[in-house]
Amino acid sequence: MSVLGKIIFYSMIALIITFLAIIILFLSFAFSSLSAVLSSNTAPIANLGQDTLLSCYLLTQTVTKVSVTWEKKGLSGVVYKYNNGAASLQDQSSQFKGRTQLFSEALATGNASLLLRNVKQSDEGEYTCSISSTKSGGTVNIHLRTAAFTAPTFTLSNSVLTAHASRWFPKPNVTWLNLDEEVLRGNTTFSASPNKIYSVTSTLPVNITDTYICRIENNLVSSVSTATVTGSAVSEDSYFTFSAASSLLVSVHLSITTTGVLCIYNLT
Ligand SMILES: *[C@@H]1O[C@H](CO)[C@@H](O)[C@H](O)[C@H]1NC(C)=O
Ligand SMILES: *[C@@H]1O[C@H](CO)[C@@H](O)[C@H](O)[C@H]1NC(C)=O
Ligand SMILES: *[C@@H]1O[C@H](CO)[C@@H](O)[C@H](O)[C@H]1NC(C)=O
Ligand SMILES: *[C@@H]1O[C@H](CO)[C@@H](O)[C@H](O)[C@H]1NC(C)=O
Repeated sequence: MSVLGKIIFYSMIALIITFLAIIILFLSFAFSSLSAVLSSNTAPIANLGQDTLLSCYLLTQTVTKVSVTWEKKGLSGVVYKYNNGAASLQDQSSQFKGRTQLFSEALATGNASLLLRNVKQSDEGEYTCSISSTKSGGTVNIHLRTAAFTAPTFTLSNSVLTAHASRWFPKPNVTWLNLDEEVLRGNTTFSASPNKIYSVTSTLPVNITDTYICRIENNLVSSVSTATVTGSAVSEDSYFTFSAASSLLVSVHLSITTTGVLCIYNLT
């Protein structure tokens, strides 16, 4: 091999080693950011005054010596702490006293989901769930938002269909549609309770024996009801959809980045 050939040969080797080192660095970075702790919903919307479950669990299901800490950003004191097989609540924030619990049967399988009772607006914010055990551990962040929402009930009187929903916050808007999704002209009135929870009443003149859609929505929650008027009877069916948070976009972006790195790895 000529001197030039040797130089090229060794430079190529050096280059390949450098590339491999960079790729390994990237991969270890990508995997270290993937925690063994997951949540089935990292952006839940809780109904004010009701109970909500903040989901947090370990990927591995057989665990021993589980300890769990739930914290909330900007709060001194913990939301909940579980250690050495028991609740450890001496430094629990007064905001959460008597309103939180974990499930002991679930903990045995690495499930540290937190039940939060009687949700208040001040419960909104960023929560961190940390789990450690002999085998694995990690943290997950959960962004909790609050709203008030109830499905409407329908009544029919003098060819006027009335939808009434008792609790909404923030103030929603109401849209009536027919099955062809044409907007119909309804008349909506609101009344606010002292704590700013709105009661919603909306009326629609109707042609007997037909199906109408009533949508009540704000920026967080949308309730879609189908009301079928037959003679003097109304049958109804409702479901809720919840707005996704921007953190979802972030996690999608993260997985794309990871896939990108894996592609580079496969190409080499
Ligand atoms: C965790 O436990 C809670 C309470 O028992 C349950 O509702 C939830 O489905 C469990 N989650 C998983 C992923 O097992
Ligand atoms: C809407 O309903 C309110 C209360 O029932 C009533 O005062 C108002 O006149 C109605 N408006 C229209 C446009 O029908
Ligand atoms: C009721 O029927 C009339 C005539 O077919 C139509 O013009 C009107 O838009 C209908 N009203 C509703 C609320 O569907
Ligand atoms: C009703 O509210 C939703 C959510 O805030 C908004 O996207 C929509 O444009 C509103 N619709 C009307 C008819 O005002």
